[in-house]
Parts: sequence; structure tokens; C-alpha cells
Amino acid sequence: MTDRRPMIAGNWKMNLSLLEAASLVKSIGEGIQDQGVDVLVAPPFTALGVVKGLIEDTGILLCAQNMHWESYGAYTGEISPAMLSEVGCSHVILGHSERRSLFKETDEMIDLKANAAVESGLIPIICIGETLEEREAGETFEVLKNQLAGSLHHFMNQKRLPLSTILAYEPVWAIGTGRTATPEQAQEVHQFLRESLTESFDANTAQGIRILYGGSVKPDNIKDLISKKDIDGALVGGASLKADSFVQIIRLGE
Ligand code: 13P
Repeated sequence: MTDRRPMIAGNWKMNLSLLEAASLVKSIGEGIQDQGVDVLVAPPFTALGVVKGLIEDTGILLCAQNMHWESYGAYTGEISPAMLSEVGCSHVILGHSERRSLFKETDEMIDLKANAAVESGLIPIICIGETLEEREAGETFEVLKNQLAGSLHHFMNQKRLPLSTILAYEPVWAIGTGRTATPEQAQEVHQFLRESLTESFDANTAQGIRILYGGSVKPDNIKDLISKKDIDGALVGGASLKADSFVQIIRLGE
């Protein structure tokens, strides 16, 4: 890592009741001091308000798991960027592999969302990652390059990407499987992504953007992952649902 501040982000996915969400975020708040790490939680939409009310003095950042790109209108079931800002979100996860595979989100949609997020002052966490078949076919870099080009199309046209933007490399084969990419495999991809950012934008952008790793991150593998030069933190699923394991990850496994 250079001087990019590490981030540990918890993606709660479609889990936890309101009571459980409140209890979890309280315990996380009590468990952390200033670790020199940005801590972020992404609860389900319905828990955002409750969680916001409990993180006031903790420094924990609030993130949504998805949003629509339009500002308002007849989009039943969707949530706008302004609605997320109003409830207290500073960040939004876009293009998670579950959204891509289960809900057929395309790079074009993620591009629209990323642009809308930045326009409305939200920081996007843009997820990309290859499947096992793609990795085994030797297509990892090509797939990631295409996802990056598609999801950042608008920014690439403008040749400008806000430095606050966050990328998350989540190999699909490592999500929820207990099968983590080795630190070397993850570093290889993160370095590739940074080189791609240098080509598409410039070295300053590539060095400033944080790239998180996601996929079966646990207290016992965070330290090795984050010791790698281009890995700036983690997007954690399962292990973010328990205060003990999430706080241990925030402490970088210490
Ligand atoms: P797991 O940590 O459960 O593998 O999930 C990773 C993930 O999808 C985070 O967005």
C-alpha cells in the first residue's frame, strides 16, 4: 500500500432483522477505536435509517448495496441516489456479482449508476470479478478489462475518474465459498487493474483509487491480503455479519 487509507467494508446482503442490524452495528462501534482504517457497513435498504442513527459518533460509514440511476419517477421497487443521500449514505455498492448474475445487471447499467452516484455526491464502490470458468480458461484479465471499460465507460470518455471512487475485485469463485484468492493471485489482479487505470486515466488516478478485495475474507487471511502493495482493504460478506469476526478483520487480524 502507498498512502491510500485502508478500508474494511461489510456487505450485509439480504440478512439481519432490524434488531439484529442495530445490535451488530452497536457492537462494531464499541469494538473499534481509531484503527487508521475506514470502516463501512452496507445494510439492506430497510435498515439504513436505523443503522444511521447508531453510527453518529463512531466514524462508521453508511453504504447502500444498490441503487437506480434515475432521480425519481415510475420505477417500482427502485431507490434513487438522492434517497440514499437523504437517509445518510455516503457510499453505494454497484455491480456486485450477485446483481450481475441473479438480476442481469449489465456493464451499461453499472456505468449509468456510477455516473449518477458521482453526480449526486455518493461514492461508488464498483465491483468486478471473473467466474471460475473464465479464470480456468485464462480469460481473467480480458474479462476484468472489459468489465472495467464497460462499467467506467462514461468516466473513460471524459478521461477523468474521481479519486474517491473505489473498485472492488471480487472473484465470483471466491464469494461465499470459503475459497479465497491467495494474496498473490489477488495482488496480481489488483496490480493489473491499477495498470489499466493508468492507461485509461493517468498514474495519479491509478495510485489514488482504492481497490478492495472481496471473497471469503476472514480474520485469519486479512493480514496477508492487506500486506500486498495494491490491496487497499476488503469487502467482506459472511464474516461481516458477526461483530467478533468483523472487528477482528478491522484490526487486520491482530
Ligand atoms: P463473502 O465474504 O461471504 O465471500 O462475500 C463476499 C462478498 O460478496 C462481499 O461483497
